[in-house]
Parts: sequence; C-alpha cells; structure tokens
Amino acid sequence: MRSQFKIAYSFLKPIIEKRVEDLRKGITLQAEPDDLLQWIIKEAPLYGKQEANPHAISMRLLAINFAAIHSTAILCTDCIYDMASLSANVQPSFKTVTDQLREEAMAVFPSSSAIDKRSLPKLSMLDAFMKESARLRLSGGLAMIRMVTNPNGWTTSDGSLWFPKDSLIGFPSRPMHLDNGVYKDPMQHDWTRFHHYQQQSPETDVGETLEKFGLQNQHIVSASNDFFVFGVGKHAWYVRSHLDD
Ligand code: HEM
Repeated sequence: MRSQFKIAYSFLKPIIEKRVEDLRKGITLQAEPDDLLQWIIKEAPLYGKQEANPHAISMRLLAINFAAIHSTAILCTDCIYDMASLSANVQPSFKTVTDQLREEAMAVFPSSSAIDKRSLPKLSMLDAFMKESARLRLSGGLAMIRMVTNPNGWTTSDGSLWFPKDSLIGFPSRPMHLDNGVYKDPMQHDWTRFHHYQQQSPETDVGETLEKFGLQNQHIVSASNDFFVFGVGKHAWYVRSHLDD
C-alpha cells in the first residue's frame, strides 16, 4: 500500500503544486479544471494546514478513488454473474434477461448515435436489475457504522438506549435486505421487482404517483430505510449526485 502511495504521490505532487500556484495567481473560471482533484484542493484550506498540503490532498484523492473503484467493480461483477445465471437454461423461444436488457440499451442508444450520459436514466430495466443484484449481493452484516464521539455519549432519539463515547454502532443491512416482511421472496433475484414499482408511475407524474404508493425511492441511487447499499442519512453516498451531474 505504502509503495503504491509513493508512486501515485510522485505523479500527483507536481500537478497539485501547479494547481495551487495557479489558484494563488488567480486563474480564470474558464481555465480552471472542474474535477475532483480541484474540488479537494479548494476545500482543503478550510480544514487547516494539515489538510492543505500535497501529501494530504493526494491521500484524500486516493481514498476516494478506492471507494469509487472497488464498489463499482464488485457491483458490475455481481450483475454479470446474475445475468449469466438467470439467462442459463432459458428455453430458446423465450427472451433471457440479457436479451431484454440489450433491447432496452439498443432502444435508448441506437448504435448510430453516440452514448449520451443524460439518457442513462432511461435505462430503467437495467437500473432495476442492478438494484436487485445490489440488494442480494452487496450488503454485509452491518451498514452505516458510526462511532460515538460526544464525551457524554449518545442516547437514541426514543431515549431507550445510551452508548458511551467511542462506542461503535452499525445497522443490520443484509438482514433487512433478506427480510420477507420487507421484500417478497427475498432470496430470489427478481429483477422485475423494482422495475415494477417504477412502472406504476406514469412518466409525466413520477413524484406524485410514487409518493402515493410510498415508493419514492425505487431507483438504485436513492437511499431509503429499506435499502442500505449506499448508506442512509448524512453520510450516505452523496457523491453520486455529483456524478449524475
Ligand atoms: C456501487 C457503487 C457504490 C456503493 C455500493 C457505495 C457504497 C457506499 C456506502 C455504503 C457508503 C457509506 C455510507 C454511510 O456510512 O452511511 C459510501 C460512502 C462513500 N462513498 Fe460510496 N459507494 C459506491 C460508489 C462510490 C463512488 C463511485 C464514489 C466516488 C466517486 C464513492 C465515494 C464515497 C465516499 C467519498 C463516501 C464517504 C461519504 C461520507 O462519509 O460522507 N462511492 N459508499
């Protein structure tokens, strides 16, 4: 790990120094890079000298790269395995899930046109498929692990439990995702599960109709109290909204 960091740091240090220097000189908005490294560089001084130096900035960038790469690589791998196993042993006269997802992709991105990021939300079957794979495969025993930092400890909002400082608290993720009171046939990979919910809402009136069914949060990137894959609350993976943009 340390030797990998050293290699990365040797690449990043001159780039960071140059960017800091450009900011000092007053770079124009048009010329300024709009990327994660620049956001980190600009934010770092708010957290003091120990954060506003090339070493700390590099560490932060690499930590985010790690968070971004391992999670997406695991989910994509799980989806490919699920697609393969669900498509095996299907009678030739029936369409496999892979056929259906391919058809959706071809309809949204006809081969003659370039892939447009803004059209990605139209891949609703793929979204539902990935969410179902994530529900089954991507959750560990505990999610949202937090440490009590208040010297007086922390009391739950209903007053029933008190945790001293330095306690570690987590919420059961896999048990929630496999609870048959929450999800029907929870052990089944039913890739139409979330798609069905999404389809209950006419496109013109998505918010209102989903709300009526209590199903506002059916897309994979929506955190909710019964889907913990991206966490919930203050530390839920909000970076995704930047990526959506
Ligand atoms: C399938 C993809 C991903 C999954 C399943 C995932 C999952 C998670 C989870 C469970 C958390 C903890 C939330 C909590 O403690 O409540 C988290 C935090 C975080 N994730 Fe991801 N993530 C994914 C992709 C990414 C990507 C692509 C990035 C960066 C580009 C990223 C950056 C982060 C960061 C910075 C945090 C910390 C947020 C904070 O503590 O405030 N993640 N992610």
